[in-house]
Parts: sequence; structure tokens; C-alpha cells
Amino acid sequence: MKIIKPIFLFAVLFSIAGMAYSSSGSAPVSLKEHHKDLECADCHGNESEEKYYLTPSEACLSCHGSRQEVAELTKELDAGNVNPHRSFHSGTATECYECHREHKLSRNFCGNCHDTDLWMNPVP
Ligand code: HEC
Ligand code: HEC
Ligand code: HEC
Ligand code: HEC
Repeated sequence: MKIIKPIFLFAVLFSIAGMAYSSSGSAPVSLKEHHKDLECADCHGNESEEKYYLTPSEACLSCHGSRQEVAELTKELDAGNVNPHRSFHSGTATECYECHREHKLSRNFCGNCHDTDLWMNPVP
């Protein structure tokens, strides 16, 4: 049994939809369902892998348009000043990665100080 168990786990890992592997063959990373057709370079460009965690908002905006356009997608939240993309504190300046994660669960930066469940949906 000791031999079979790890092999089984390996098979489970491979069966999870959206799993992809880095060029260097290190740990597998998942892509969000809405991004499953994207290439690694669409977000990470030609950066070395050590810098991947700093994914710049400009990479996101190259497909999603300007910060203003992103803010328009959630403009119903302007009422009450809780539009996460055009917020009370810092306007459109908050970096995407403060909330949106790609290979792990997203989290809400505003939630560090507020109960955001009262205001908006979870971060996709
Ligand atoms: C190569 C183009 C591309 C890049 C780069 C990209 N996206 Fe996307 N994104 C898409 C497409 C295509 C969709 C699916 C269609 C849609 O919902 O607009 C999508 C969907 C999304 C959604 C879900 C929208 C919904 O309706 O639920 C979010 C959130 C999102 N992207 C955030 C980001 C963030 C944050 C980044 C940067 C880390 C990023 N995207 C980078 C193309 C891109
Ligand atoms: C303060 C947190 C926060 C930041 C920063 C943030 N987002 Fe979001 N984003 C959210 C939340 C929360 C939602 C879901 C809003 C809802 O549906 O109530 C969302 C939704 C989206 C959607 C889907 C909108 C739709 O309904 O079609 C896209 C696309 C998106 N974000 C892209 C971005 C991009 C690109 C950036 C960086 C320029 C960014 N976000 C920065 C929290 C954030
Ligand atoms: C839609 C944009 C997007 C795409 C496409 C994408 N990444 Fe990422 N990646 C990110 C973001 C944002 C982070 C920052 C941490 C997180 O969100 O999980 C990150 C972080 C990483 C990290 C650092 C690990 C960490 O948690 O800090 C690695 C390694 C990585 N990505 C590998 C890949 C590989 C390999 C691919 C292609 C299969 C890929 N990424 C495709 C956005 C993307
Ligand atoms: C570091 C903690 C912190 C973070 C993170 C934070 N806030 Fe706040 N926020 C506060 C404090 C403290 C106040 C009250 C003081 C003030 O008015 O500046 C406040 C006030 C507000 C108010 C006014 C509330 C009222 O009753 O008038 C809104 C709206 C708001 N924040 C939205 C947001 C949004 C949206 C985000 C995420 C983009 C966010 N905040 C992130 C600490 C934070």
C-alpha cells in the first residue's frame, strides 16, 4: 500500500481541470476557469519565474482595458463608494493582485478592515 498511495495522488493531481506545468517543471499551477485558454506569458511576459508573484496590473489591463473600463464593469457598486475598482480611498489605483489571485483563492483587500460581504460578491 505504501507504494500505491503516492501514485494514486499523482493521478488525482493530473485529473484536476486546468492544471498546467511551468517550463522549469516545478510545482503545478492552476488557472481560473475564465482564464483556462491563456498562456503563461499573457500575464508573466518574459520575466524570470522568481518575479511572477509581482504580476503587474498592466498585464491584466492589456486584455481587460483601462482601469476606468474595469471600474465601469462594477459601477453599480459606486453607490456607497464601495466599487472595488474605483474606491473611496484610492480611486482606480489599487493593484489587481491586492484582490485577484490566479493560482490560489482570491481575497478581498478591503476585507482587511471592512466586512466586504455586506458590500460585494467574493473576488472572482
Ligand atoms: C490574454 C488576455 C487576458 C489577460 C492577460 C487577463 N485576462 Fe482576465 N479574462 C480574459 C478573458 C478572455 C476572460 C473571460 C471573458 C470575460 O469574462 O471577459 C477573462 C475573465 C476574467 C475575470 C472574470 C470575469 C467574470 O465575469 O467573472 C476576471 C476577474 C479577470 N479576468 C481578471 C484578470 C486579472 C486580475 C488579470 C491579471 C492578473 C487578468 N484577468 C489577465 C482575458 C485576460
Ligand atoms: C479591492 C479589490 C479588487 C481590486 C484591487 C480589483 N478587483 Fe476586480 N473585482 C473585485 C471584486 C470584489 C469583484 C466582483 C464584484 C462583484 O461582482 O460584486 C471583481 C470583479 C472583476 C471583474 C469581473 C467584472 C464583471 O462583473 O464583469 C474583472 C474583469 C476584474 N475584477 C478585473 C480587475 C482588474 C483588471 C483589476 C486591476 C486593474 C482589478 N479587478 C482589481 C475586487 C477587486
Ligand atoms: C491571468 C494571469 C496569469 C496567468 C495566465 C498565469 N499566471 Fe502565474 N501568476 C499570476 C498571478 C496574479 C500570480 C500571483 C499569485 C497568484 O495569484 O496566485 C502568479 C504567480 C505565479 C507563480 C509564483 C507562485 C506564487 O504563488 O507566487 C508561478 C510559479 C506562476 N504564476 C506560474 C505560472 C505558470 C506556469 C503559468 C502558465 C501555466 C501561469 N503562471 C499563468 C497570474 C497569472
Ligand atoms: C487599512 C484599513 C482599510 C482598508 C484596507 C480599506 N479601508 Fe475603507 N476605511 C477604513 C477606515 C479606518 C475608514 C474610516 C475613516 C475614513 O473615513 O477614512 C474607512 C472608510 C471607508 C468608507 C466610508 C465609510 C462610511 O461610513 O462613510 C468606505 C466606503 C470605504 N472605507 C471603502 C473601502 C473599500 C471599497 C476598500 C477596498 C478598496 C477599503 N475601504 C479598504 C479603513 C480601510
